[in-house]
Amino acid sequence: MNEPIGIIDSGLGGLSIASVLIKKLPRESFIYLADSRNCPYGQKDKEEIYELTKKMVKYLLKKNIKLLVVACNTITVTSIDKLRKDFNEVPIVGIVPVIKTAQEKTANGRIGVYSTMVTAKSPYQKDLIRKFAKNSNVVNLGSLKLVSLIEKGEGEGINRLLNKELRIFKENNIDVLALGCSHFPLIKKEISRLLPNVLILDSSIAVFHQVKRILENNNILSSSQNSDYNFLTTGDKKFFTKFVKKTIGAKLTNKAKLSRISLQ
Ligand code: DGL
Repeated sequence: MNEPIGIIDSGLGGLSIASVLIKKLPRESFIYLADSRNCPYGQKDKEEIYELTKKMVKYLLKKNIKLLVVACNTITVTSIDKLRKDFNEVPIVGIVPVIKTAQEKTANGRIGVYSTMVTAKSPYQKDLIRKFAKNSNVVNLGSLKLVSLIEKGEGEGINRLLNKELRIFKENNIDVLALGCSHFPLIKKEISRLLPNVLILDSSIAVFHQVKRILENNNILSSSQNSDYNFLTTGDKKFFTKFVKKTIGAKLTNKAKLSRISLQ
């Protein structure tokens, strides 16, 4: 079965997940859809996030995806239950910060979680923290502007904002930071430079394990030798192509189809 796996995000962030899935599942085909035109989602209300997400899901279902990865924490915490109810024709995998792993790894019981504002404030994320890190002190920080800066590739602005926002993690002496936004692994190096002794965890491997388990359990693993890669954006194609190359590598990007689309 060589139907593709669909991956959605509000923008470029999900590429941090796509790059790992592509490497670890080389026989699978993928369609990645970035709604960069409407990014950031993290400043919108729940209803608007759902309306925009629905358009992406409908588009990918028409492309016969066999599984959907919601590679966006903001969509996951606001909409995953409703998505699973409204679109039950395919399994849907979401993404959340790996708080359980953070709890296992912390030596001093001080953990940071860094997400968009909507995600940080969501009951979904607060429940995860209560459930998996009840023995730790957790700094659950939401950023209003970081996603937009990453989306525009504004290096200087990113460093300036990180300098300001990461201070709270330093003051609280955290030793593990779980990233709760799929855009943030794209600037892991910059975060690491400011928090040199902190273990930084993203969710890509956790998503991979979940995807693999579902493919196996549903008997829909691909055995094809010819994987197809499609990368679609609602935003600027040139910038998107540059970013895809950076995360997926030039070789795979040359093999892939990249297009700009508009969603109805
Ligand atoms: N990558 C999205 C996330 O994981 C960014 C959300 C946004 O567009 O603000 O939360």
